[in-house]
Amino acid sequence: MILEKNEKFEISESMIPAGMTVTIEDAKETAKVFGDLRMRYHAAIKEISTKLEVLDNEFSLRHDYNPIHHMECRLKSIKSIVEKIQRKGWPMELESVYKVMDFAGVRVICNYMDDIYRVEESLLRQDDIRLLKRKDYIKNPKESGYRSLHLVVEVPIFLSDRTYNMPVEIQIRTIAMDTWASLEHELKYKRKDEMPGYVAQELKNCARAMAEVDATMERIHKMF
Ligand code: GTP
Ligand code: MG
Repeated sequence: MILEKNEKFEISESMIPAGMTVTIEDAKETAKVFGDLRMRYHAAIKEISTKLEVLDNEFSLRHDYNPIHHMECRLKSIKSIVEKIQRKGWPMELESVYKVMDFAGVRVICNYMDDIYRVEESLLRQDDIRLLKRKDYIKNPKESGYRSLHLVVEVPIFLSDRTYNMPVEIQIRTIAMDTWASLEHELKYKRKDEMPGYVAQELKNCARAMAEVDATMERIHKMF
C-alpha cells in the first residue's frame, strides 16, 4: 500500500509579495519551471516505489511474508523548500533547489529490523540505482533518540525527449521507529515552545525501550 501526499501548485497575482518587482509573467514562468521539476521528482518517486513494491511482492511469494508494512511518498512543499534554502544560507535561485536532496521522499515502514537492511541491499544492487548518501541512524542513533536508515539515491526517469537522473531520499524504519519519530516530530514542531528537558529525556528513554522491543520482535520472528 502506498500513501501519497501531494499538493497542487498554482500561481496568482496575490501570491507576489507587495513591493517585489516581479511581473506576473515572470512569476508564471518560474512556476512553470517549478511545475516541471515537481513532475520529474514525482516520476522519480514512482520509479522508487514501484521497485520497492516489486521487491516486496517477490519476497512475499517466496517467503510467505511481506518485509514492507507500508510506504509513504511525498514531494516537499514549496514553502519547505524555500525554508530549507534559507536555513542553509544558499542563494534564492533555481540552482539551490537542485541541492535540496529530499525534494522527493519515500518512507518505507518495515515489520522487522532485518527487513530494513534486506530492502536496502535489494534496492542498491539494482543497476540503475546510484547511492549518493547513506546515514545509519539505527547503528548510530541521533542524540534525540531518533532511529532510521537514510539513503539518498539517484534514479533515472525517462521522459519523451531525454533521461534525467533524479535524487530521492529514502527513510527506512520499523513501525516502532516510525511511531516514535511521529510523536517526537509532533512535540518538536507543532508546539511553539522549546521542548522541556524532562520531555526530551522521556523521549530518549522511550526510544531505547522501543529499540529493545524491535530487537526482541526480530528474535521472536526468527524463532520459527
Ligand atoms: P537536512 O538538510 O536538514 O535534511 O539534513 P540532513 O540531510 O543531514 O538530514 P538527516 O538525514 O539528519 O534527516 C533528514 C530527515 O530525517 C528529516 O527531514 C526528518 O524527516 C528526519 N529526521 C532526522 N532527524 C530526526 C529527529 O531527530 N526526529 C525526527 N522526528 N525526525 C528526524
Ligand atoms: Mg531533510
